[in-house]
Amino acid sequence: MNIPDIIIAIDGYSSTGKSSFAKIIANEFSFLYLDSGALYRGVTLFAIENGFINDNCEIDVPGLDKALEDIDLHFGEGGAYIGDRCIEAEIRSMAVADKVSPIATVPEVRNFVDRKLREFGAKKRVVMDGRDIGTTVFPNAELKIFMTADPLVRARRRADEMAAKGDSTELDTVLKNLQERDYIDSHREASPLSQAEDAIVLDNSYMTMDDQLQWLKNIISEKFGK
Ligand code: CDP
Repeated sequence: MNIPDIIIAIDGYSSTGKSSFAKIIANEFSFLYLDSGALYRGVTLFAIENGFINDNCEIDVPGLDKALEDIDLHFGEGGAYIGDRCIEAEIRSMAVADKVSPIATVPEVRNFVDRKLREFGAKKRVVMDGRDIGTTVFPNAELKIFMTADPLVRARRRADEMAAKGDSTELDTVLKNLQERDYIDSHREASPLSQAEDAIVLDNSYMTMDDQLQWLKNIISEKFGK
């Protein structure tokens, strides 16, 4: 199937499978995949390791903002990097998941990530996933998808994913974390998680990845012709 040079923006709640879906899309249509959450997670890891956030989630905003001027956060072979250190495994940990939403409320952090995403996404033929891609980062994206799913289904998927990587966390802990993140993400002042007016909703609670891809192909055919 041919698809024009567009930007596909995928937003939605935590653990709805946005990144898995985005990766499949990137592979299917030879698009570049950009995981905006990985950048927020990368900044969070950096903030934890350098003492810019404490256990009560109090953030040294001026200190962090200054330090971000020199951080070399980018994507490379196998995921996200700070300099030449691959941070992909660490940014998926519960320690980072616990602090990422507070960090993502900071406007200075959001500006930093937005700048990077717009730089990386300048080329088109990009699929990007996050919370505010269709509303703030790329409001002119030609195709916007808003993903949602039953919270318990989402928690089970994420707990299974973590267990497969050797990190067995209680289902309840995972559920609580994703509900907390959904709450903070939807209620923050700076570009909160919300559905863009022109986004198409995808509830994938009971869909397989193949179902989702078929759903997307139908939409692309309708919107852009074959
Ligand atoms: O994969 P998962 O749904 O767990 O989340 P993620 O995409 O890795 O994003 C982690 C966190 O980063 C979210 O809970 C948000 O707090 C923040 N985020 C954001 O604020 N804006 C984005 N565009 C992407 C992520």
